[in-house]
Amino acid sequence: MKKVLALTLAATMALGMAACSVSNANNPGTQSSSSSKTSSVSETSQASETSETASTSDTTNVANKDKPLVWFNRQPSNSSTGELDMSALSFNDNTYYVGFDANQGAELQGTMILDYIKANADTIDRNGDGIIGYVLAIGDIGHNDSIARTCGVRNALGTAVETNGSINSEPVGTNADGKATAVKDGTLEVNGKTYTIRELASQEMKNSAGATWDAATAGNAIGTWASSFGDQIDVIASNNDGMGMSMFNSWSKENKVPTFGYDANADAVAAIAEGYGGTISQHADVQAYLTLRVLRNSLDGVDIDTGIGTADEAGNVLSEDVYYYNEEERSYYALNVAVTADNYEEFMDSTKVYEPVSNQLDESTHASKKVWLNIYNAADNFLSATYQPLLQKYDDLLNLQVEYIGGDGQTEANITNRLSNPSDYDAFAFNMVKTDNSASYTALLNQ
Ligand code: BGC
Ligand code: CA
Repeated sequence: MKKVLALTLAATMALGMAACSVSNANNPGTQSSSSSKTSSVSETSQASETSETASTSDTTNVANKDKPLVWFNRQPSNSSTGELDMSALSFNDNTYYVGFDANQGAELQGTMILDYIKANADTIDRNGDGIIGYVLAIGDIGHNDSIARTCGVRNALGTAVETNGSINSEPVGTNADGKATAVKDGTLEVNGKTYTIRELASQEMKNSAGATWDAATAGNAIGTWASSFGDQIDVIASNNDGMGMSMFNSWSKENKVPTFGYDANADAVAAIAEGYGGTISQHADVQAYLTLRVLRNSLDGVDIDTGIGTADEAGNVLSEDVYYYNEEERSYYALNVAVTADNYEEFMDSTKVYEPVSNQLDESTHASKKVWLNIYNAADNFLSATYQPLLQKYDDLLNLQVEYIGGDGQTEANITNRLSNPSDYDAFAFNMVKTDNSASYTALLNQ
């Protein structure tokens, strides 16, 4: 009975993913303002075992395999089918994933681009041939967020093609004549005129050393695309802002071609004033909080919803318009918000803590604990410029001493080699290089 359920669930999830089904989006949350203080990376240890708060963790006598664990930003899953890796997601009773709703965000990104095209129909077709051409920078062909964004853009622009019942998210390389098989030409009618929408080119932005979502590679790609397509390029879409800003700075700003990214990194939000088309906030302020909050709650031995859906004693609480929890997937998902010329000013400070969860916990009842946390690639724009600075603010508020480890974006070993002493920590937060590689991390805790 249980097995049947688990299988059905896995099948549903795999399908949902492969089909890149664009979700029945929950209402995007509204961003609220907040004030915050900055904090430093390194924190001095102050052991306090004085608290009478039930603590499920204690570096001295809890086995590493039983310590709280959170996966974040890269959800343990099969990189070709998207099927969730439930053994990693339920490694122990205190294991969770924190990310964001990839389909809802992907749909928003696609819609944002389509809305822009419609609103600027009179001028968008730069060479006046009736074809609206776009190019697409893909982050990582095996990353579910990247796949969702590619599908979201193609769906909205009418260029998506179904292969074996699911939307094709493969890069096309170049597609000057519209004959590529991974996409098709879309049509758009505005103000009584019919345009063709064509994905002129797309490629995975992976550098020669193997790092994906690579901004420099995207900057080079736009140069190559611009020399072959020139004024056939009317719009640039990117799976993230790191790559988007690289293309904006090297070509699209000067050529007044709108670029649309994802992540709402501060530099991208600021660039909207200079012609960057728009971006999507994945509510990193909520995700960074959740990442550390689930560990805090597990360490305190309290209900996992404390300070999340249920207010804690300090008044921290999140509302349903910014996140949801999927119990079967053991995953928390933040909701996304579109950031465009209409509202970008509210998003200028991407490292501001989210005000409803910005209250300091009392150290006498939430004793200081040690957490080991890694970022898969120290050079990833979103994680280093937005996510980590937020984590560094929340760790103070939650009385967690976090050791931050930055990987090289290429191998898990570069990261896991630096966790030689898991017994020194109370809890762990992992951001894998590849979503398939959870075992490289859990093996260390199982020893
Ligand atoms: C972000 C990307 C980032 C990637 C890393 C995505 O959610 O949007 O910018 O590079 O995560 O895993
Ligand atoms: Ca054209």
